[in-house]
Amino acid sequence: PRVRIELDRQAVIAPVRRRTFGSFVEHLGRCVYTGLYEPEHPSANGEGFRMDVVELVRELGSTTIRYPGGNFVSGFRWEDSVGPREKRPVRRDLAWHSIETNQFGLDEFARWLKLTGSEMMLAVNIATRGILPALDLLEYANHPSGTTLSDLRVANGTPEPHNVRMWCLGNEMDGPWQTGFMTADDYGKIAARTAAAMKTADKDLELVVCGSSGSSMPTFGDWERTVLEHAYEHIDYISCHAYYQEHDGDLGSFLASSVDMDYFIDTVVATADHVGHKKRSNKKINISFDEWNIWYLEEHKASQEVNDEWRHAPRQLEDKYSVADAVVVGSLLMTLLKRGDRVTSASLAQLVNVIAPIMTEPGGPAWRQTTFYPFSITSRLASGEVIRPVIETPARETARYGDVPVVDAVATVDEDHAAVFLVNRDLTESAQVTIDVRDLGLSRVTEAVTLADPDVYAKNTLAEQNRVTPSANKSATLADGVLTVELPPVSWTAIALA
Ligand code: AHR
Repeated sequence: PRVRIELDRQAVIAPVRRRTFGSFVEHLGRCVYTGLYEPEHPSANGEGFRMDVVELVRELGSTTIRYPGGNFVSGFRWEDSVGPREKRPVRRDLAWHSIETNQFGLDEFARWLKLTGSEMMLAVNIATRGILPALDLLEYANHPSGTTLSDLRVANGTPEPHNVRMWCLGNEMDGPWQTGFMTADDYGKIAARTAAAMKTADKDLELVVCGSSGSSMPTFGDWERTVLEHAYEHIDYISCHAYYQEHDGDLGSFLASSVDMDYFIDTVVATADHVGHKKRSNKKINISFDEWNIWYLEEHKASQEVNDEWRHAPRQLEDKYSVADAVVVGSLLMTLLKRGDRVTSASLAQLVNVIAPIMTEPGGPAWRQTTFYPFSITSRLASGEVIRPVIETPARETARYGDVPVVDAVATVDEDHAAVFLVNRDLTESAQVTIDVRDLGLSRVTEAVTLADPDVYAKNTLAEQNRVTPSANKSATLADGVLTVELPPVSWTAIALA
């Protein structure tokens, strides 16, 4: 197909928000143990952190990192995870049917984040605990010193407060799988009271209330409305979670997953604004899209990974991602950028080993999954402001989403740079794209990379860690303010201009 795009510097949607490139570390499977933390590993530093993983996280460019769960948080006692290691309790984690040794906890995570240069985002357990433990954690984490809990943090080796800004009030509280799940009414009340108390300690905290675990939840919509009716004044964000996968060989629909994400965002924004209008409030609630990714959930359910054994750091949710998966990740990230007016924070779920862009072997190497590339390249190239392109593209019919544009694109601009991100969803044909960039006043292509492969199911594995990598797109040329590029079928592309 032939596609025409026009870029107008004035068509600004929102600033590029660094928090769009957030990620997620949960005590689940091998994310923490043999992922971030493996004292016996040859690359481990004095604290037991795998430096090969730290290097890859830096390259990935993830900004805010959510911790410690996920479903895990609903059984978590934060006090277990701090202080002398030999005194930390070993517990059962009911969420993932695993043994938690607490050898890596809050203060270790904070020290690890210093190495990756990322911001900490914490979740509190209000599913099986209440307001006081949440306030205690806040005091331990953020109070400078001179109180019992802040002095405990100092004594545990962290003199400066962690100064955590973003806090999630529980996790997926609408899901029957959540330990201590609640009705919207019950959750809305406890979230409002917890938020109000936390803001009494620090009015500048940014608090995230749980939205729906997915747009297909039976309570979706009503959940958001009810929770916000209780908590609107006290919170700043409502969360969205969405996982996608290819179903029954329907690649066309899978490649169009961002259509669903867009619908999800629209509906939550409309619901939040509806509640805001009813309350005659001037305040706008933004979205923290704090879990999004590809997850072959149906396959995991079928393989019944969780059995009766209680194991420490078992191999769980270790999805291996294909070229097609990476194209969808790139396209979902484009949607998050495009919705940056209201989606002001997001977390790719997750970071290492568990549905993750980075994989490790215990005692062995760490490598990049296919999905690593669109994320790291977008995080590196996007800067300044997101602008809305005018796109003239043919559409293709999909079973799930009806007619869907074949090519999608988004651009970012600052004074002397721009970046254009494109996806071609056509299953068989290349797209010939012409982009009018005269308004940007830039003259050179400084980088053009495409992720594509004749085998859209090719993956990077332990045996073949670099089977899939992006390659230079030599077709990208810029002359007289017109950028032309060819996009192979099922591909993701980034072009940088200066
Ligand atoms: O990211 C994996 C799990 O997915 C999280 O623990 C939970 O919040 C969601 O259901």
